[in-house]
Amino acid sequence: MRDLDLGTITDAAAESWRDTPNARLRHVLERLVIHLHDFARDVSLTHEDWRAALDFLTECGRITDDSRNEFALLSDVLGLTSLVDLANAAPDATAGSVLGPFYAENSPVVPLGADIAGDNPGETVLLTGMVRDGDGTPIPGALVDLWQADTRGNYAVQDPSLPAENLRCRQYTDDAGRYAVVTVLPAPYSIPMDGPVGALLAATRRSPWRPAHIHVIASAEGHAPLVTELFIADDPHLDSDAVFGVRAGLVFLPRRFTEKEASPVPLTRQPRWRLDADITLARRGA
Ligand code: BEZ
Ligand code: FE
Repeated sequence: MRDLDLGTITDAAAESWRDTPNARLRHVLERLVIHLHDFARDVSLTHEDWRAALDFLTECGRITDDSRNEFALLSDVLGLTSLVDLANAAPDATAGSVLGPFYAENSPVVPLGADIAGDNPGETVLLTGMVRDGDGTPIPGALVDLWQADTRGNYAVQDPSLPAENLRCRQYTDDAGRYAVVTVLPAPYSIPMDGPVGALLAATRRSPWRPAHIHVIASAEGHAPLVTELFIADDPHLDSDAVFGVRAGLVFLPRRFTEKEASPVPLTRQPRWRLDADITLARRGA
């Protein structure tokens, strides 16, 4: 190891992990070193570049706490989160999409047809659909966990002026596999721009906007849980999502919903729009 040079440093660093008892960890670390060294060679990394990268990561660490993870945001804007989603997608299931930083556990469990729009300004919409198996069989008792931003683009967990449980809920599908809530159409919003990742997007003239969406985690016994998003068609940011979360099968067009149309479930108020979004879960291990 005393005579390391540009031709031998990579092998030495990769082989340094050889005694790692966990074979997966050993493999990932070896390959990480090889790709990282190749990257540094490829871009002819200078001391200045390297220091700037370390400073950037240090800033990410400084701003990260229990309620904010700048490294996760970095992964999102680099497309890494979506790459991992795509590479691990179950073929017969609805496409997955990013979880994002605004998920809160234990949202209130609401009955079918519940109105979670409350006093929120905006266009009311009946969001409904079936949760099904890969072979089309409806799944009764599936849990649908929903959260979204309001029409100003703010999530309950992000904005202390909002009620803590604003625009989020959990609901079990009925015997027919249906879920249904009355909510408001969400608006597009910018990812957090007050940290180093935001500064990077600004410096590189990248759009910080996410197209309007509703987050969903759907789960059911015997099935792989699905983390995904429902996007609203016609949003101007669908083709430039800052975190690469949009998939063709996740874009839905709300349609007008009038008294003349029978509702699939009893509702306490008539929403202006209806958005149908079915969800398919893959059997566990399939
Ligand atoms: C979101 O959808 O809430 C989100 C996702 C990734 C980064 C920032 C925000
Ligand atoms: Fe979001």
